[in-house]
Amino acid sequence: MSNHARRFGALAAALAVTACGSPPPAALTPEQVMALTPGDARLAGLYETSCKACHAMPGNLAPQVHDRAAWDPRWKQGEAVLLDHTIQGFNAMPAGGQCASCTPDDFKALIRFMAGREDSAK
Ligand code: HEC
Repeated sequence: MSNHARRFGALAAALAVTACGSPPPAALTPEQVMALTPGDARLAGLYETSCKACHAMPGNLAPQVHDRAAWDPRWKQGEAVLLDHTIQGFNAMPAGGQCASCTPDDFKALIRFMAGREDSAK
């Protein structure tokens, strides 16, 4: 195989991987993590004053916002379990996530946002 062909092969392989969406997304910088916020203004306010304190604080136990590697195994439990753990508390996760004014629907939307699934059907 010529050098040229080998390089093309590597490029084609890289493109194929990208097309499948399988490579892990590049890790976000702490600044990018801090800047993430729900699109809806009211939800953004709830997020900023509650979940964000722990879920956008790299280094603590909370799965970080949009960190799919941390959220995917949790997401597999199903939304009902995640909602229950949010309302009841779960280990170091405080009951209600320190959001006294959040409704169950708010929690669901906040969980979807943090888990990187804001596009999921309701
Ligand atoms: C005081 C810090 C803190 C705040 C505030 C907080 N969390 Fe958490 N959260 C945690 C920690 C720590 C965990 C990981 C618990 C574990 O897996 O042991 C967690 C885990 C979770 C999980 C995953 C539960 C599971 O079953 O794996 C969900 C969902 C969640 N939080 C939602 C929220 C939402 C929604 C808010 C805001 C309304 C919020 N959290 C606010 C600390 C916090």
